[in-house]
Amino acid sequence: MSDDATASIPTSLSLSKLCVEATSQYVARFADEPQWIVAAPGRVNLIGEHTDYNGGSVLPAAIDRYVVMVGGPSDGDASCIVGADVDEEAVVQVTGAIKPGRITWSSYVQGVVAGFVNRGEQLYPFNALVRSSVPLGGGLSSSAALEVATATLLEAMLGEEILPLEKALLCQEAEHKFAGVPCGIMDQFSSVLSQQDSLLLLDCRSQVVEFVPFDDPAVTILIANSNVKHELTGGEYAQRRAECEAAAKTLGVETLRDVVSEQLEFASERLGSVNLGRVRHVVGEIQRTVDAANAIRAGRWQEVGQLMYDSHASLRDDFEVSCDELNLLVEMTKEIGDAGGVIGSRMTGGGFGGCTVSLVRTNAAQSITEVLAQRYFQQTGIQPTLFTTRPARGAHRIK
Ligand code: GLA
Repeated sequence: MSDDATASIPTSLSLSKLCVEATSQYVARFADEPQWIVAAPGRVNLIGEHTDYNGGSVLPAAIDRYVVMVGGPSDGDASCIVGADVDEEAVVQVTGAIKPGRITWSSYVQGVVAGFVNRGEQLYPFNALVRSSVPLGGGLSSSAALEVATATLLEAMLGEEILPLEKALLCQEAEHKFAGVPCGIMDQFSSVLSQQDSLLLLDCRSQVVEFVPFDDPAVTILIANSNVKHELTGGEYAQRRAECEAAAKTLGVETLRDVVSEQLEFASERLGSVNLGRVRHVVGEIQRTVDAANAIRAGRWQEVGQLMYDSHASLRDDFEVSCDELNLLVEMTKEIGDAGGVIGSRMTGGGFGGCTVSLVRTNAAQSITEVLAQRYFQQTGIQPTLFTTRPARGAHRIK
């Protein structure tokens, strides 16, 4: 086994370093100083998975990993976007009727630009360069961060801000139409609205947000990326959403949010075993999310941990969106347990790969990281990426 497998918590590029690097790359490419610098974070969901598009609650936080966009007006007619991390350039259209094209990283940018044009905003040709410290395809919402960064850059260009709620919805629509993913509203809301040291309890039906303080220095969020790729465009996500909608129809409710547990006892025949599992997950997860928010407010960490383990089991067995690597990471974390400083653990995000989220005692974070990295590598031959985070600030303009 290489020494890397036991590497300490990686210190990723800080936001300020990302901005400095993006600025100098922009200057080298466009021979001009950028006029605008903006940042939008990825997110980690503590609990409330696959509940957003069912009208339920979610409890995410922004992570201190950002998409940074620097930009300025273009001299010519075209708008050129440089994806510095992928080493690619793309042209985006800023006027007229904009239609979705082949799906690439720049589709997210184009989709948001189209949303602004459709609102009647007068955009002009611009250049921009994108840098990111949000892992791609890791279930930490790199795509929502890119959408929200684009919207924040366009706000800077226009010199006016749109309402946060409208901004999040515009970005979600971009993902639906230009990336073909029928996502819920959690990721974009989280990237737009998050506040430092708080979790965001979002009721996805009423779209009412409550901030739940997460500022106990003794408790830390540990993210473990299985480094198994997760592709929401792969169709499984859309299939789960369709199954939920079909089940809601069968049960005669608008969304699965409206199902009460007692209803489930009598619904198994009508639903069939697969959809019964889907509904059971959603109904249970909505309750767990509300319970977890209350337990966090009261500092009842053991209860929070149990809710996270229950959430994982439900996503694995009833909703069937986990995978072997995620299950292994959760099991290994659980084995370290209370005595080793673990509070709870579960898969996070859409599933089918990506990351787990764990709550750990801050003073044990380093040793937990080392043990997990070593054991996971031994069993799978894959190097995981682990890092800790505290709830970070949402999207903002820096220049
Ligand atoms: C993806 C989607 C979200 C949400 C999660 C699952 O991240 O973009 O809207 O549905 O999956 O909770």
